[in-house]
Amino acid sequence: MASAAAENTANRNRHFVTIVAAVSALAGLLFGYDTGVISGAVLFVQEDFHLTTFQQEVVVSAVLLGCLVGAALSGRLADRFGRRSVLIQVACLFILGAMGTALAPGTISLSIGRVVVGIAIGIASYTAPLYISEISPADVRGKLVSLNQLMITIGIVCSYLADYGLADMRGWRWMFGLAAIPAAILLLGLLFVPESPRWYVRQLLHERAREVLAKIRKPSEVDAELADIEASLNQQQGNWRELLSPSLRPALVIGIGLAVFQQFTGINTVIYYAPRIFQLAGLHSNSAAILATVGVGIVNVLMTVVALELLDRVGRRPLLLYGLAGMIVSLGILGAAFLSANPTRGLALTSVVCVAAYVACFAISLGPIFWLMIAEIYPLKIRSTAMSVAAAANWGSNLLVALTFLSLLQVLGRPWTFWLYALVGVLAWIFVVRLVPETKGKTLEEIESTWIARSRPA
Ligand code: BGC
Repeated sequence: MASAAAENTANRNRHFVTIVAAVSALAGLLFGYDTGVISGAVLFVQEDFHLTTFQQEVVVSAVLLGCLVGAALSGRLADRFGRRSVLIQVACLFILGAMGTALAPGTISLSIGRVVVGIAIGIASYTAPLYISEISPADVRGKLVSLNQLMITIGIVCSYLADYGLADMRGWRWMFGLAAIPAAILLLGLLFVPESPRWYVRQLLHERAREVLAKIRKPSEVDAELADIEASLNQQQGNWRELLSPSLRPALVIGIGLAVFQQFTGINTVIYYAPRIFQLAGLHSNSAAILATVGVGIVNVLMTVVALELLDRVGRRPLLLYGLAGMIVSLGILGAAFLSANPTRGLALTSVVCVAAYVACFAISLGPIFWLMIAEIYPLKIRSTAMSVAAAANWGSNLLVALTFLSLLQVLGRPWTFWLYALVGVLAWIFVVRLVPETKGKTLEEIESTWIARSRPA
C-alpha cells in the first residue's frame, strides 16, 4: 500500500515538473517569435514610416542589441531575486514591449520598443534554461531544458506564418502585438510554479527547498538531493574570481566557445535570410521562396523533437559531433553548388536540400545543446552570472553575423561565404572533441564536482 502511494506521488510529481518546464519554455516561444517576426514586418514599417536604409537596419538590429544588453547586464538578478521572480518580471517586459511596438507612433518609439523586447529576450534566453535545469531530475534534464529550444523553433515558424498571414492587410502592428498573448500566458503560468529549490538552498532557505523538492521528486529522493546541493554549495565561493580560477576556467571557455560557434557556423543567415538565399539560387517567385522558408522552419521544429528524445539517451557529445559533421558537409555542398554562375532548377533544388539538411543537423546539435550545456556546467553559486556571460557572447556573435552576412556575400562571393561557416564548423568540431565533457545523466552537483576533481593534481 505504502509503496503504491509513493509510486503515485512519484508519477504525479514527474508530471508536475514536466508542466512547470513547459510553462517556463513559453519564454522560448517569445524568443523565437520576436526574433523572427521582424523579417516580414520591416517591409511594411519601411513604407509606413518612410525609412531610409540606415533606419531599417536600426529597426531590424534593435532587438539583437537589446538581447545583448539584457543578457550582459542581468547576470546577478536571478541570483539575487530568484529564477522564477526574474522570469515573472521578464514576462511583464515582454507584454510591455509587444504593446509598445504595436502602438508605436514613429521610428524612434518603435526602435525603443524593440530594444525593450530584446532586453526581455536576452534575460529570458538563459534564465528559462537555468530555471528548468535546476528543477529537472537528472535523467530527463536534457529533454526538459530543451523544451525551451523546441519552443524557440515553434516561435520562429509562428512568426513566419504571422508575417505571411498578415501581409495582405499590411498588419505589422498586429505582427508585433500578437506576442502579448503568449507573454500573458507565460505570466499567468509562472504564478503557479515554485521557485527553484537550488536557489532556495543558495539563500539558505532549506525548509522551503525541501517543500519544493517534495513536489517535484520521488519522496525517497528528497533528503539525498537536498544534502547533495548543500554539500556542493559549501565548496564554492561564489564570486567572479572563482569563474577565472584554474578549476572553472575550462567551463567558462566551453560556455563562451559553444556560444560563438553556435552563431559563427551561420544558423541565423538561414533563419533571417533564407528567402534571400533561395532567391540567389534561382527560386525567383517570392511565394516559392517564402514557402521554402516555412518548410525549413518546420524541419527545424521536427528535428528538435528528435533531439529531445536523443539527448538523454545518446548523450550531448555524440549529438554535437554528428550534428556538426552534417552541418559542415551541407555547407560545403551548398557553397560548391553556388560555384555555378547561373541559377538553374538544379541549383535551386540543391540549395533547398542543403539548407534543410544543415538546419536539421543544427537542430539535433548546437541548437539545443548550447543552451542546455550552459545550464549544466556551472556551479550553483555563480551559475546565473556565468550563464549571462555565455548568453551575451551568443547574442554579440549573433549580431555580428547578422550585420556582416550580406557584405560577406559581396566581398567573398557565395561559395566562400558558406565555406567560411563550414570552416568555423571544423574548428567547432575539434573544440568539442577536445574540451566538451559529457553531462548526460549526471546531477548538477556531480557535474560541479568534476571541475574540482579535474584541477587537482593526480
Ligand atoms: C539560437 C538562435 C537561433 C535558433 C534557431 C537558437 O538556439 O540561439 O540564434 O535562431 O536556435 O532555431
